[in-house]
Amino acid sequence: MNLAVLGGKPIVPKGSFCDWPNVTEEEVKSLVEKFKSISFNNYKLDYDITQFEELFGKYIGTKYCFTLNSGTAAIYSALVGCNLKPSDNVIVPAYSFFSAAAAVLNAGAKVKFCDVDLQTFNIDSQSFKEQIDEDTKAVILVHIFGNPCNIDKINQICKEKEIIIIEDACQAHGAMYKRKKTGNLGDIAAFSFHISKNLPIVEGGAITTNNVKLRDKAASANMFPNYIENKHINLGNNFKFNGLFAKIGLERLKSLEKFNNRRQENRDYLIQRLKKFDFIIPQKITENAQSSNAMFVFRIDHSKLNISNSLIDSRNRFLLALHKEGVNCGIWSDKIVPEMEMFGIDASKFPNAKMLVDSTIYISGIHYPNSKNEMNLIIKAIEKIVDNKEELKEIK
Ligand SMILES: Cc1ncc(COP(=O)(O)O)c(C=O)c1O
Repeated sequence: MNLAVLGGKPIVPKGSFCDWPNVTEEEVKSLVEKFKSISFNNYKLDYDITQFEELFGKYIGTKYCFTLNSGTAAIYSALVGCNLKPSDNVIVPAYSFFSAAAAVLNAGAKVKFCDVDLQTFNIDSQSFKEQIDEDTKAVILVHIFGNPCNIDKINQICKEKEIIIIEDACQAHGAMYKRKKTGNLGDIAAFSFHISKNLPIVEGGAITTNNVKLRDKAASANMFPNYIENKHINLGNNFKFNGLFAKIGLERLKSLEKFNNRRQENRDYLIQRLKKFDFIIPQKITENAQSSNAMFVFRIDHSKLNISNSLIDSRNRFLLALHKEGVNCGIWSDKIVPEMEMFGIDASKFPNAKMLVDSTIYISGIHYPNSKNEMNLIIKAIEKIVDNKEELKEIK
């Protein structure tokens, strides 16, 4: 047997890929200095937090930006900004991170799900339209894996119906639609700075918006506002960001463009070299858009791979084989959000979203400083699996 999954030698030597993020000596030094300088007396007006908010907001292109302790807190706060009543509903794509739908319930409104597009993996505008009723107050646009949604199509629908557009840009730092950054495409947006993200801090989140009313109401979801007085117009949670994380954010913001460019180069290279495999269907980037390429994600067409009649079985066998060859890969989600216990809706109502959880694989090593050499290892691993395809049928 040749494949590593059946006892052969893995094609990717251990330690070939650099981890994400790549911590530099300058980052460590500035962090230690910052740690020494933090005290109770200077906590409230932490200059690094306000500086980070200013620079990140400037980078996204919005008038306002404020930080929070997670992307989940940011989505929830954006929803609080919308003044939701219990009878209101918010539409969320079925293929998304659980945070968005959960935040709607936490904000006291109802969730309605819509299906996604099989090519871009983003919200399907027709399915979205079909879910709208007189109680629809907002939509959460998830730029999935950093691929910007087609905001022109969504804007048209939302303007007519006065629906607020909340962007879940948690995976989309630096992505663009028609040269405008995600986070500045709708009415209000949420970012995450979790360590896995393109702007990796450790934990953290931010809101960006051009609407001062939305900003002030959204900020009231946090009982520790960084920039306004403690008026407590609302019940607030402890969503505070901190100066140490802001310091990391300031350092990493400097490299975001460079790092995103490397992701793009690596993605382009993989797409070009993997073209010959017709069973691999990469996520299609929205027309006129630039993805942040949070991950390299593709669907398996099992009818072309031809190792099993079942889509999930084919995907799982291929995935396990790729993983055992030493490629950092996985399944982003094995259930769509509506079918999770919290909601219990039959997945068959969202056929495209269901198809995505059953057929996709992500590869996470496309980040800086990995480059062509490392991409070649991924390609070699896939070539090896294809050359020994019959062995995939032997996996128990
Ligand atoms: C699309 C999406 N939305 C929201 C979140 C939540 O962000 P956080 O983990 O910072 O709460 C994530 C993070 O995993 C995400 O990928």
